[in-house]
Amino acid sequence: MSSIKQKILNNGNVIPTVGLGVYETDPKKCTDLVYEALKVGYRHVDSASIYKNEQEVCDGISKWLKEDSSHKREDVFYTTKLWDADHGYEPAKKAIKLMLEKAKDIGYIDLILIHTPKTSYKKRHGAWKALEEAYEAGTVKNIGISNYGIKHVKEVLAYPDLKVVPAINQVEIHPWLGRKDLVEFCRQNKITPEAYSPLVRGQKMTDPLLLSLAKKYNKSAGQILIRWSLEEGFITLPKTETMSRLAENFDVFDFELSPEDIKTLSDLDEYYISGWDPTIYPLDDEK
Ligand SMILES: NC(=O)c1ccc[n+]([C@@H]2O[C@H](COP(=O)([O-])OP(=O)(O)OC[C@H]3O[C@@H](n4cnc5c(N)ncnc54)[C@H](OP(=O)(O)O)[C@@H]3O)[C@@H](O)[C@H]2O)c1
Repeated sequence: MSSIKQKILNNGNVIPTVGLGVYETDPKKCTDLVYEALKVGYRHVDSASIYKNEQEVCDGISKWLKEDSSHKREDVFYTTKLWDADHGYEPAKKAIKLMLEKAKDIGYIDLILIHTPKTSYKKRHGAWKALEEAYEAGTVKNIGISNYGIKHVKEVLAYPDLKVVPAINQVEIHPWLGRKDLVEFCRQNKITPEAYSPLVRGQKMTDPLLLSLAKKYNKSAGQILIRWSLEEGFITLPKTETMSRLAENFDVFDFELSPEDIKTLSDLDEYYISGWDPTIYPLDDEK
């Protein structure tokens, strides 16, 4: 059964719904940050090869696992992402091998995503084939996509040799960017939407409505945004490098937003992009 704390993916595997994002997290801080996050209760970390901190993330997980025999590898979910330069079958195979070497102390990778669709049909298709092979070999437990718009998802689903439907599509989602059509399309096809930049990279923290809800629920603005993300059914990836905010951002399971307040937040939707938007990248025949 899915719950607010974890979800079941299309292959039956479980994923914790709150993951620590480590985009731009200083590699020097990353091992300690991930270790502290696991102590606070996080069981999911979201990295990428382009973040240059995969090794440090794995070291933090490994440190926590070794500390206590009750700490089990299967309780932790480690995600990384394949960068655009590694698209294509052979480059992707090489890159996946490197990712697995970095993860050797933790045994396997829980999820690899194609980071963006920003290459070509041939390269995306080759990368997907390489991921399917890693999935079938069991070294990568789940495979998925990121920043794929509806047309990119349709492209994957139409691969003539498709063996594995992506488990996840990770895209920017928050109240100012609901992506309702994409979310519905993914769910219809049993692809779980994952919300990145759930804190809008800090860009909306002084929004009057958000602040009024924070006051009403006696929670921080960040906690309201993370709770909105969970209650809308997303896996959510708040990032912080600030130790004191680790606990704050995970302390979101002891309150509920009313349906009216969820709707008021969702109504803020204005297709606001906080960073970049590769979901609009043209397909080959649109270029
Ligand atoms: N697939 C993709 O293309 C993609 C793109 C973007 C993000 N992501 C993933 O999603 C994760 C999260 O997204 P993000 O890093 O873009 O942004 P985010 O989580 O929306 O926001 C992070 C920013 O909010 C601040 N912050 C954290 N907690 C806060 C709180 N309680 N109150 C006020 N400010 C707070 C952080 O500052 P401090 O760090 O200083 O605390 C940081 O500046 C990333 O780390 C990454 O794992 C994926």
